[in-house]
Amino acid sequence: MFSVERGQFGPNFLFGAATAAYQIEGGQTDGRGTCIWDTFAATPGNVKNADTGAVADDHYNRWPADLDLIRDGGFDAYRFSFAWPRLIPEGTGAINPAGIDFYDRLIDGMLERGIKPFATLYHWDLPSPLQDRGGWMNRDIGGWFADYCALVGKHFGDRLYAAATINEPWCVSVLSHILGVHAPGYRDIRAGAHAMHHVLYAHGMGVDALRAEGVKNVGIVTNLEKSEPASDRPEDIKAFEIGDAMFNGWFLGGVYKGQYPKVLTDLLEPYLPQDWQRDMEVVSRPLDWAGINYYSRGLYAWDAGRPLLPIRQVKGTLPTNDLGWEIYPEGLTALLTRVSRDYTKVPLYVTENGMSESDDARRVEFYDMHLKAVLEAQKQGADVRGYFAWSLLDNYEWAEGYSSRFGIVHVDYKTQERTPKGSYRAFQGMLHNTRAPA
Ligand code: FCB
Repeated sequence: MFSVERGQFGPNFLFGAATAAYQIEGGQTDGRGTCIWDTFAATPGNVKNADTGAVADDHYNRWPADLDLIRDGGFDAYRFSFAWPRLIPEGTGAINPAGIDFYDRLIDGMLERGIKPFATLYHWDLPSPLQDRGGWMNRDIGGWFADYCALVGKHFGDRLYAAATINEPWCVSVLSHILGVHAPGYRDIRAGAHAMHHVLYAHGMGVDALRAEGVKNVGIVTNLEKSEPASDRPEDIKAFEIGDAMFNGWFLGGVYKGQYPKVLTDLLEPYLPQDWQRDMEVVSRPLDWAGINYYSRGLYAWDAGRPLLPIRQVKGTLPTNDLGWEIYPEGLTALLTRVSRDYTKVPLYVTENGMSESDDARRVEFYDMHLKAVLEAQKQGADVRGYFAWSLLDNYEWAEGYSSRFGIVHVDYKTQERTPKGSYRAFQGMLHNTRAPA
């Protein structure tokens, strides 16, 4: 049971559950092309237990039952992602009709059940042939992504409640090209700086392409962390300023103000694409809503041994989830109010929030604390219009494989049986099968 009630969030507030294609679909058949996660996962040492997304939750075949779970939980909306390689197997060019059919059925299935489709165009499954051409390091991705967005806009746009271009540009660029943790697994500052800019440039190109096809309600989903200095020493405060700019300020500043933080352009200039400034108008196209994914905080200390980026993340002392991420609901309030104060007045949605944990009672408590943090942000003036639990199902947690379970519904990977957890029941209890108005 949650201690909060639906009515406290306002009459039009949307509650939803979120997933992503690669993490649940499986179904690597029917003409789907390969993506960077297929090969990254196949490379020894990248993913725990060498797990891959080949089967995942078999959602490609089991989607009707999964949509029933969303409806029966009382959720208003479903945040899902289109798999680019399922729709355009080579990334550009020929369309896969079976892919179009799949998302036709999925979206119609949502509408039949009274569930609002919140689509994400890119949740990390870049078609492999585009990686061969440099992927996010190549400015041409602006055009490749725009063409893909146009296809999605044309076929599905009028049935979507909302569309986000990119999920978590920090992960697409920094985590995947500088830290090497996610596909394509680069550890290179130039690769990273190029990706940090091109991912936002492609986002802007995607916004234009979606709108040209008449798609309404277009946004982006940024993952934010509550960055803080590890101590009040001036060097740690400086480290925090760089860390915060790298995680939050670059993406928020670029998208909502057309400006990257100076503290970072000073450091990254030699590695950024030439003439990046000419793209800033595209990067900062006005949006209809802003999505925020929130999980934890980051503590920064100065590290003189790293002259280019002299910062290091250190461990804090707060309770953690089973991946070691600190639980910090106040951070969600702080970030929502910060975005609304410093960056944009468009409606805000918490597009992901949740916990990797085997003890579901802790997950219920986690959600309860974070729902209260949303209420607090609203009280402080942030225009928050919705909240999505990550995730509907236990699923393929990227480099953590299947060992990490974020679902409010348990999945037995041997039988594919779904079993609602207490956290699912807690949402169901709060939502009472009452939907937000259409
Ligand atoms: C976010 C991702 C999502 C999931 C959660 C735990 O960074 O968007 O796919 O992996 O973290």
